[in-house]
Amino acid sequence: MGREDSRGDRGHFTGNPKQAAPGHSIGAARLTRRSLLRAAAATAAVVPFGSAHAAGKPVPFGGAIQIEYLDSDPAYAKAFLDHCDIIMPMNELKFSSLHPAREAFNFAPADRLVDLATTNGRRSRGHTHVWWNALPAWLQAITDPAEAERVLVEHIETVMDRYRGRLDSWDVVNEVIAHDPTEEGVMRDSYWMRILGPRHVPVAFAAAARADPSARLILNDYDLEFAGDRYDRRRAIVLEMVRQLQDAGIRIDGVGIQGHLYADLKIDIPALARFGEALKSLGLSLLISELDVIDWNIRGGPDEQDAAALIIVGDLLEGVFASGRPEAVITWGITDRYSWIPDVMPRRDGKPSRPLPLDAQYRPKPWFEMVRRRLA
Ligand code: XIL
Repeated sequence: MGREDSRGDRGHFTGNPKQAAPGHSIGAARLTRRSLLRAAAATAAVVPFGSAHAAGKPVPFGGAIQIEYLDSDPAYAKAFLDHCDIIMPMNELKFSSLHPAREAFNFAPADRLVDLATTNGRRSRGHTHVWWNALPAWLQAITDPAEAERVLVEHIETVMDRYRGRLDSWDVVNEVIAHDPTEEGVMRDSYWMRILGPRHVPVAFAAAARADPSARLILNDYDLEFAGDRYDRRRAIVLEMVRQLQDAGIRIDGVGIQGHLYADLKIDIPALARFGEALKSLGLSLLISELDVIDWNIRGGPDEQDAAALIIVGDLLEGVFASGRPEAVITWGITDRYSWIPDVMPRRDGKPSRPLPLDAQYRPKPWFEMVRRRLA
């Protein structure tokens, strides 16, 4: 079983195109101007595009934080405060966390994390409005496209309204590109895709632009950094989506490369450089949004794991910095004590994974020192 299959089995990355309702042939879906942008263009807010980050300014470093460890482990919050310019909720701003029932929002966990960031003078950002995962059952029971669109737009308006001025950047859409476009077509299967088709992307960006003109609006996705056809195709689709949004006058400010890095794969540095240049010429910047290292195929112990991590993270930075300084570098957690990687992609030898910048005892890894030097 291949690497991606294993990931898919855990339900985190691969949607099942066969679940698509008749009439929405995802496998054959083409990202045409008309399909993606129909109906959204007319309502688009026209806002100037953000400029790429000036050379020489330090790049903010951030980490994604989880509410469940805040009280049980005092060292946890301290680690974010010691190391991060940006502290962002990992799960607490996802649709099902925020919006458990049609008429009910639950802001308390996200509020607490955003307050931790902002009362300590740190920035925070939002993750995420549109995702195939973390959708409540009440939403997926909606079968009328007009109603689904209303819910999506109202959700974005309500959430962005609440956090205006406190979350200065949003992953408006997350993981909307097909996992393997060489086999599945352009866009990934999801509830939003089945009910609204590709236009859920412009609908979401237009709503976000209206709701908070000052927030940076990001398209976030994974597998955008490696060498190979599948990754080339995924990068090309991102660029095509950006162009189509812009052609319709819909604002998008940047692309988030998640950066869940398979330590045994190869980063395509020249391809990343071209990708960043192409985005820059469209007025967009890049950020690394969910960095961690997947060391499940690395033999040996902590030294070998950390050596492999140093190389793969170094190559990612090389490729990203080739087109200028990114908007931010954010890791998906801060300490190996808490990470989704051992749950979803555990090591075959049963030894601990070492995905994050601090080890389980909160000691910085060599790759974290390298990242800090590069961002300074
Ligand atoms: C993961 C979180 O890390 C887990 O705690 C949660 O159980 C599931 O989601 N890509 C994304 C993130 O965009 O939202 C995912 O986060 C990891 C993969």
